[in-house]
Formats: sequence, structure tokens, C-alpha cells
Amino acid sequence: MAEVKTFTLTNDETGQSIKLPIRESVQGPAAIDVSSLYKEAGVFTYDPGFMSTASCQSKITYIQGEEGLLEYRGYPIEQLAVNGDFLETAYLLLYGELPKKDELAEFDHDITHHTMLNETLKNFFNGFHYNAHPMAIMVGVVGSLSAFYHDSLDINDPQQREIAAHRLIAKMPSIAAASYRHNIGAPIVYPRHSLSYCANLLHMMYATPCEQYEPDPIAEKALNLLFILHADHEQNASTSTVRLAGSSLANPFACIAAGIASLWGPAHGGANEAVLDMLAEIGDVSQIDKYIAKAKDKDDSFRLMGFGHRVYKKYDPRANIIRDVCHQVLEKLADTNNPLFELAQRLEEIALSDEYFIERKLYPNVDFYSGIIYRALGIPNNMFTVMFAIARTVGWVAHWMEMMSDPRQKIGRPRQVYKGHARREYIPISQRD
Ligand code: ACO
Repeated sequence: MAEVKTFTLTNDETGQSIKLPIRESVQGPAAIDVSSLYKEAGVFTYDPGFMSTASCQSKITYIQGEEGLLEYRGYPIEQLAVNGDFLETAYLLLYGELPKKDELAEFDHDITHHTMLNETLKNFFNGFHYNAHPMAIMVGVVGSLSAFYHDSLDINDPQQREIAAHRLIAKMPSIAAASYRHNIGAPIVYPRHSLSYCANLLHMMYATPCEQYEPDPIAEKALNLLFILHADHEQNASTSTVRLAGSSLANPFACIAAGIASLWGPAHGGANEAVLDMLAEIGDVSQIDKYIAKAKDKDDSFRLMGFGHRVYKKYDPRANIIRDVCHQVLEKLADTNNPLFELAQRLEEIALSDEYFIERKLYPNVDFYSGIIYRALGIPNNMFTVMFAIARTVGWVAHWMEMMSDPRQKIGRPRQVYKGHARREYIPISQRD
């Protein structure tokens, strides 16, 4: 048996030492296994924001932040982006291998035939105010799926887990499109089984009962690529939320609703919408210096949205691909003088030559350019994070499935360093000053 490497921790006060096993990674840093630390030494580890903490072992996605590398199941994101299809990527993330032709056909058929929503579920949309943010609708409606699909709620049954995973991937575009239709006061459109995953989403968003609608192949291709890039990103905030929710053995629909809620925040997936708001506020190249100064000012809460990342300390590889695709999409749509894209590129150029951003290794992240493509495709700002949620559902369910089949899985229960009052006696209200 291979010898397990250890890490020795010494208490400076008592001189007591403890050996902790090291868990090796296939790629990337190893981790000190501190799970026995409290039992053996009576102390916890303290790591707000999980700056140095691995919360699980996973075989799905690998990121090398210093070099700006991203791989799904070992395949570089650049190769998947050029050659791939979103459902093929979904299969890879879920099952660990690229599908053979018949496997992909069967998976595609299964996802396609789960795209319909229960008719009663449609009533939920009418319960929302017409101007509800589509992400608010998504959180509610996706969570409500647990009330409809009782035959896929037994989390101990691998087959039911798989059906739930397929249902979630299949129904997300239908729910997303219905959220948008509710927002604009248009009737909900049924899916068309003859269309691809992305073309079907466009159909459900833009078709009307009054005339024939054919999804634009440029938009379909761009969505396919954006969805591949957004499909997974290992233990980010929303995926960790899904894992934590799932660790209590909650049902998968409730767990994914929790993931959607986490994704919505502007520090995470909500940044794509925030980038466009920021560009609109900046308005003109002449204003960039003022906003760069605001971003650097520690007394100002303004941050350059779409910039910075916990893991990447180099250009986010997804942002690189998206920026190139921006050029291609805008060219194909004959929108080459897109002022937002010009402004974003100039902002990037100025920020990347500024000492503040260089020193802190702050580069554009995946959200910096994605909104510009979405906007060029006619997708409204408040739907950008919804688009992200559709794609990321694949990663969420892949991680949930991996966790649920892992015999080491335990309820997630962090500890704390208590800083409140020490124990004190209750004072009756009449005696309080
Ligand atoms: N603008 C200005 N300064 C920034 C920015 C930014 N966008 N991002 C980080 N910084 C600064 C911080 O103020 C801090 O400076 P200091 O060392 O002087 O205190 C330093 O860079 C490190 O930042 P942290 O907030 O500690 O880094 P953390 O890893 O916790 O945060 C995050 C990462 C949340 C992505 C952050 O960079 C941010 O808020 N970016 C803007 C929002 C955004 O684009 N989010 C999308 C991320 S990608 C995704 O989730 C899909």
C-alpha cells in the first residue's frame, strides 16, 4: 500500500504535535485532511470564504487559476468550445466520458422529451407580478417542481436521481422562456421537439401564435458556445450551495432552486447583468478614468463588474473565448460598431495597464463580455443571469449526482469561532436600565 504523506501541526503553547494525512490531487495542490483535527487536538480551522479549503473530492472539473486553465473531465475548455455541442458537454459532465453516437442520440431524445411543463405549473407564472425579475420567478418555479414530480424525489434511488437530473436540464429552458414571456405579457410557447436545445430556447422565447418563427442559426450557435462555457466551474458559490443543500438529503429540485438563488448575486452570476448596467452608466470612453478611480477607491463600494475572480489570477479562459466570439457574432449580425463592445474593450485595455489591477491580478472574467453577445442577440438584460442558470444547471446536477453517490458524503455543517457574549444571567425587564 502506498504510504500516505502527512503534515505535522504543532501547538506552539503546549508543544503537542499532530500528524494530518495529505490528500493528493491528480492535478493541482494537495489538501491537508483536517477532518480529525477537532477530535484529536480540540481546535477548528478558520477560513472565511473558503480561501484555502477544499470542501469535497470531485472528478468533474479542474481549474488552474495561475495559468488560466479550465478542463471538464480532463478536456480543455477551448477544445470543447470549438468542437462541442451543449448536450454532448452535458453528457460528459454527468457521466464522465464523451458520448458515442447512439449514447448522445438517446440522451438528446430523453432531454428533448422532458422539455414540457406540467400544465398546472403554468399557473405559477400568473402569480407573479408582471414586472417580477425573471430570476425571482426561476427560484420559485424551479423549487416548485418538487411538488409535481413525485416519481423522481427518492434521492436514494440512482435511477430517480438520474430522471430528476434530466428533467431539470430539460425544463430549465422552458421555465426560463416562460418567465420571460410572463414579463412581456406574451403567451407561453410550447417546446418543439424537432429543434436543438438552444434553438428550442429561442423558439420558446420569441415565437408567437400568429406567425411562423425560425430560430436564427447565428444566435443558436452563439448560445451553444456560451452554454458550454458556463456549464460548470467546480466549487463556485452556487455549486457549493447546491452541494450544501443536497447534503441534508433535500430533493434535487429544491437544491437547484437554492443554486439559482446563489447565482443571482452580483458577485457571482448576476455580474453579467451588472456589467451592462455599469457600461450604460459609464456611457462613454471619456468617463472611463473616473470609473477606474472609483473602483480603486476603498471608500467607494463601486467595483469593476466582470473583473476579478477568486481562482483565476490570469485571464479567465472563458472570457478570452467570449471576446473573440463577440467579434464574430457582431460581424455576422452586421453590428460591428457596437458602442458597448467598444467601450468594454477600451475599459479592459485601461484597467489591464493600471497598477491597481496588475498588482491584484484582476482580469476580465466570464461575465465581462457575455452580456454584450446576449444583448446583440436581442436578449434583455434581466434574462442574462437566467441564461447562465440554464447552462449551469448541468454542472449543478452533475455535482449533486456525484455527491449523492459518494459514500463519504456527510451533512455539511461548518463550525464557528464564537465572538459573542460569554454566558450571563437573564435580567427581568423591570430591572433593565
Ligand atoms: N474591482 C475593483 N477592485 C476589485 C475587484 C473589482 N472587480 N475585484 C477585486 N478587487 C480588489 C479588492 O478590493 C481587493 O483589494 P485589496 O486587496 O486592496 O483589499 C482585492 O482586489 C481582492 O479582492 P477580493 O474581494 O478579496 O477577492 P475575492 O476572491 O474575495 O472576490 C470576486 C472575487 C467576488 C469575483 C471579486 O473580484 C468581485 O467582486 N468582482 C466583481 C464581480 C464579478 O465580476 N463577479 C463575477 C465573478 S465570475 C462568476 O462568478 C461567474
